[in-house]
Amino acid sequence: MVIAIDGPAASGKGTLAKRLAEHYRLPHLDTGLLYRAVALTLLDADRDLADADAAAAAARGLDAAFLSDPRLRGSAMGEAASIVSAQGAVRAALLDWQRRFAGAAEGAVLDGRDIGTVVCPDAAVKLFVTASAEERARRRHRELDGRGEAVAYEAVLSDILRRDARDADRAAAPLRVAEDAVVIDTTALDADAAFRAATGVVDGRGRA
Ligand code: DC
Repeated sequence: MVIAIDGPAASGKGTLAKRLAEHYRLPHLDTGLLYRAVALTLLDADRDLADADAAAAAARGLDAAFLSDPRLRGSAMGEAASIVSAQGAVRAALLDWQRRFAGAAEGAVLDGRDIGTVVCPDAAVKLFVTASAEERARRRHRELDGRGEAVAYEAVLSDILRRDARDADRAAAPLRVAEDAVVIDTTALDADAAFRAATGVVDGRGRA
């Protein structure tokens, strides 16, 4: 069974994807990490994030071992990833990678922006996890605070709005709800309630 989970930044889709993968004993791929790794490769090599050739080469040469680099996790890398992810050649290079992962015999859980629409259009279950921009900014702000990164809430909110706009307005595989996806709005849900909603959807559809 392939479970495709999409949604905007800080919607809670990553936490939910991890829990679903554990619950159904499926391998999990956070596809945002792939784009983050491409961005970090460019930054490490002192290349411009808009350098399309360098970005495509970095995507083609991506090493899975790199995905555990802690530098990928920061919000600056999320922003950099959003910039490189708008390039069609980067997306094309990462598509095979993601489809190979999704092709595992037992299935997989993948989360990102275009999993249900482009990467796994035939996924057994598609979830679109979202929350209001203000609630997502509050969560991100709390998380940064917890890590000792003092950033104003307004700055976090404007980062989220800018990232939403870039991810949704790009020509290549923009963020959008797949026609057959179930939307889970987590604005008023905690992680446990979101998990219950998601397992309700998965179990209701049967495990093909
Ligand atoms: O999920 P994330 O915040 O780690 O993703 C970082 C950026 O990568 C996101 O702003 C857009 C891009 N991305 C994408 O375009 N497609 C995906 N499937 C996953 C992430």
